[in-house]
Amino acid sequence: MKQDTIAVIDFSTHEASDLARHIRSLGVYSEIHPYDTSLDSLKAIKGLKGIVFYSENKKDIIDQNILNAFNCLLINFDTHQNYKSHGTKDDIKKFIFNTCKCGKSWTIENFIENQVTLIKEQVGDEKVLLGLSGGVDSSVVAALLIKAIGKNVVCVHVNNGLLRKNEAERVIKVFGKELDATLIYVDATDRFLNKLKGISDPEAKRKVIGTEFIRVFEEEARKLDGIKFLAQGTIYPDIVESGSKDKKGIKSHHNVGGLPSDMKFELVEPLKYLFKDEVRLLGKALGLPDNMVFRPPFPGPGLGVRCLGEITPERLKAVRESDAILTEEFEKAGLATKVWQYFTAVPNFKSVGTKNGTRSYAYPVILRAVNTVDAMTASIERLDWDLLDRITYRITHEVENVNRVVYDLTPKPLGTIEWE
Ligand code: XMP
Repeated sequence: MKQDTIAVIDFSTHEASDLARHIRSLGVYSEIHPYDTSLDSLKAIKGLKGIVFYSENKKDIIDQNILNAFNCLLINFDTHQNYKSHGTKDDIKKFIFNTCKCGKSWTIENFIENQVTLIKEQVGDEKVLLGLSGGVDSSVVAALLIKAIGKNVVCVHVNNGLLRKNEAERVIKVFGKELDATLIYVDATDRFLNKLKGISDPEAKRKVIGTEFIRVFEEEARKLDGIKFLAQGTIYPDIVESGSKDKKGIKSHHNVGGLPSDMKFELVEPLKYLFKDEVRLLGKALGLPDNMVFRPPFPGPGLGVRCLGEITPERLKAVRESDAILTEEFEKAGLATKVWQYFTAVPNFKSVGTKNGTRSYAYPVILRAVNTVDAMTASIERLDWDLLDRITYRITHEVENVNRVVYDLTPKPLGTIEWE
């Protein structure tokens, strides 16, 4: 499938990303390149029809040879103009479709078709290993690989005991049963919880969880000796934000968190040119359920950083059950995919209350619901009072060892989104 491309030359990553997304939303594939990309590198881009320079009065550092070789559009944003203004949007549209004569080939269907071909070319009849957490990115990679190579993708789902309610069951149902994938399920709950016993410092907890995950995954990978390929859910912002100039040379092992260097995998990263919203659309087009694709982000250390201080089975259960109630109530209220992130946390202290007419001494549940664009700053969702009432009633009546609910009103900064 022929694909026309517009390059956005990056003088300021955030704005360049927005602009590239805007061009893609018009149906034309667009990718970001740093301002010092050479003429030869640009010539090597397949299907390149034009270049947009999004610059802050940096005309003088642009290579004249590039301006001569390609259709170029220069948007200057030092005059408070940016691509969001109507005039500029019109200019971009005219440039792409009239000057460069781009076809509208950037669609999810074409993306799937292209990637299926590329994945088959890359891996042939070999097997591909994938760590499937159940989060959006790894789920979408799994679905795409299953479409491309079927049983030859070997998914490993590690249950670290810190997953959301019914998460492992959901992964097994969707991938093991409905999509009929090769799925290895590792229940490492006891192993993780034993390692975490007695540890209350947040950083120490994170380290234990991260390290143990790598150990378990590595053990499973060794059992499957002979697999050459490792698939990862690296997405475009991971690559753009790393500031790499040579995308092919980028090392993306951070997603697996450091497999040992004697395990030499070749990476398969089919989402590496997609923005997050495109990943979600792809997941939907591949038939994944909405509650897997449009869910809030979930941190790698999972409920481990929401069961504050030392993790105990009773408080871990309280976090998991209260989180499930919050999610259910958000779904009923139509907020589940509107609010960016929401969850509960349970601290390691108790308060006095009354339950069923007698004195109780139990844990509080903290509610958190925030909105953000990039998770660097966040504001509080102004939840409806009746909804808060319902959630409070349900949590205090349905969750064991809980007698109080509080709503965290702290924006980021000062608070981080997670409590640990
Ligand atoms: P904070 O708490 O730093 O979180 O404001 C910002 C966003 O990152 C998520 N988060 C993590 N995600 N591994 C992840 O994959 C982690 O260790 C981790 N810690 C925080 C957090 O849920 C929020 O969306």
